Amino acid sequence: MGEFPTQQNPGSGRGIVIHGAQWGDEGKGKIVDLLTESAKAVVRFQGGNNAGHTLVVGGEKTIVHLMPSGILHDGKTCLIGNGVVLDPEVLCREMDTLAAQGVDVTPERLTISKKTQVIMPYHRLLDGARETLLAGAKIGTTGRGIGPCYEDKMARIGIRAGDFAYPELLAKKIAKALVEKNTLFTKLYDMPALDPDAVLEQILPVAKRLVPYLGDVSSIIQKTLAAGGDVLFEGAQGTHLDIDHGTYPFVTSSNTVSGQAAAGSGCAPSVLGRVVAVVKAYTTRVGSGPFPTELFGTVGDYLQEKGGEFGATTGRKRRCGWLDLVLLRESARLSGPTDIALTKLDVLSGLFEIKICIGYRYKGKVYEYPPQDEGALEFVEPIYETMPGWEEDLSGITTWEDLPLAAREYVSRIEQSLKTTCSILSVGPDRRQTIIRG
Ligand code: GTP
Repeated sequence: MGEFPTQQNPGSGRGIVIHGAQWGDEGKGKIVDLLTESAKAVVRFQGGNNAGHTLVVGGEKTIVHLMPSGILHDGKTCLIGNGVVLDPEVLCREMDTLAAQGVDVTPERLTISKKTQVIMPYHRLLDGARETLLAGAKIGTTGRGIGPCYEDKMARIGIRAGDFAYPELLAKKIAKALVEKNTLFTKLYDMPALDPDAVLEQILPVAKRLVPYLGDVSSIIQKTLAAGGDVLFEGAQGTHLDIDHGTYPFVTSSNTVSGQAAAGSGCAPSVLGRVVAVVKAYTTRVGSGPFPTELFGTVGDYLQEKGGEFGATTGRKRRCGWLDLVLLRESARLSGPTDIALTKLDVLSGLFEIKICIGYRYKGKVYEYPPQDEGALEFVEPIYETMPGWEEDLSGITTWEDLPLAAREYVSRIEQSLKTTCSILSVGPDRRQTIIRG
């Protein structure tokens, strides 16, 4: 037998995780895109097409929901890991759109783990039916079948991408998954039962198309690292939407903390040499759930408008508020960032003063980390520190020294509180609107 790489001996390649430290929409897409330049491979490790990364390259905007953002860079390997839930119809549509733009989306560039769970048409139906039934108490899901797909994974009745190569097995598994679901559809949701053969027929064309893309993602990561290539792990959503550690139940249905990069792709945590926390210079949240620093007046509207805070996936207006260091401390504790990419600093220009939440008051006590009782964030009172704002437009600034003093002080205050360097400062959507600090 020849030499084979082991995770204990990963070569000189590094695993670099990029994850959101707030409630998603921190601008991870741009940071992944930036760091992809020096990486060999880019992996998605959780979530599904509920993510929406907006990439702006040379003024042209592209939104990808499922495809790893690295696809826009020639020669980078793109991987969809086992922790993702994959809607094959959406992926095929995305492949077609990208191909029409001249982007190479061949099996040489994209591999899907055979262990990746598949979002089936019945998952989407179930998602929609549930949100309708919940009426006033909606979680605010994107209705794309993500949650029901993860449920089936845990219930061990999920369809996995590897099943695409075996239509007979696929047929059996669909029939099995529909036994319980058809009861729900007909008895609880007043919907017609689904015919397993019709579901199979719907899925087969896209399933067959994706067979050449199936592979062993874990092995590709291992070999890439062993050959000295860096592997980028592209997180979706954000820490406080994590199924365990987020503001439960207003969370997404996967783990979004950095540790999931290992489990969701099939590599050892010891290869994750760099963890970049993407932090937006203020806070936003889409949909329901507690938000202690939310702003309701003119400043909130200013951030919403200036920051273009509309969801990339749903188009929903994002709620806006001041930066919350309590939530960021919790993020740092959970994901251990080596450095921070601070985004949208340019949006804060024009404010006379800027507030930062440095603690919470809750049940007569002061907290530096969020109280862990479920729903506590609904009742905490933020403690603010006020800093001077700045007038200058930052969008053309490319060096730290050229930033106004007040902006530098704002960044330094974040670094001091989180004991982590802001190595990347983003002052606009384009790649060129970035300050890299050595
Ligand atoms: P999720 O994975 O869904 O959380 O998405 P995301 O973290 O990639 O964020 P998303 O792309 O939804 O939102 C970021 C938006 O801000 C996009 O429209 C970006 O083009 C834009 N953007 C990114 N960085 C900056 C920045 O520094 N300044 C400004 N003004 N816009 C930025």
